[in-house]
Amino acid sequence: MKFFVDTADIKQIEDLISTGFVDGVTTNPSLIAKQGSDMKEIIKNICSLIEGPVSAEVTATDHETMLKEGEYLASIATNVAVKVPLTVDGLKTCKKLREREIMVNVTLCFSAAQALLAAKAGASFISPFVGRLDDIGEKGMDLIEDIVIIYENYGFDTEVLVASVRTIQHVIDAALIGANVATLPPKILHELYNHQLTDKGLQAFLDDWKKTSQSILPK
Ligand code: G3P
Repeated sequence: MKFFVDTADIKQIEDLISTGFVDGVTTNPSLIAKQGSDMKEIIKNICSLIEGPVSAEVTATDHETMLKEGEYLASIATNVAVKVPLTVDGLKTCKKLREREIMVNVTLCFSAAQALLAAKAGASFISPFVGRLDDIGEKGMDLIEDIVIIYENYGFDTEVLVASVRTIQHVIDAALIGANVATLPPKILHELYNHQLTDKGLQAFLDDWKKTSQSILPK
């Protein structure tokens, strides 16, 4: 399972890459807006930090302008994955960009029918938003299960990129289902390796070790 990090904050990305667990980055207009700096510069910088896919989202809503924006974003670096919304214009744009061998991440997916269309449009990634479905009382993970089954039924290459991840349980459930990727807010990535019993157990080991007055490395 691949982990992408869902942020446009360069410092956080650098820090997380150093853990060795980051396979890519996803951004969206809201995450870029939080940074208060030029989008092209942000994407260029992120792409120079990591070899994996870096999602950069178009902001036009009509097919023609989306296509132009997508081509422009893809020209920033070879590892840009152009993010398009799951609208009919977004799907048309996805198809055209894929014909030009540009990676595409179709975002804002909330139904299996939408995910099926994205795969038929040749999407490299489909981004179903599990947290936002949970927010309205649905089970986001049910959607992931459905999409994984549908894609397996037809052998689609589109990778299932679980987005809007809010909890460690989302990550575990996505892994149990066999989703290809989860994009994680930095906080969740850090939470993955933390466990109170690990901290407690380590402290007990260190306290006992101190009593021996030994050191592993020669003095
Ligand atoms: O990048 C899309 C995404 O993961 C959104 O998450 O928490 O705003 O629903 P959230």
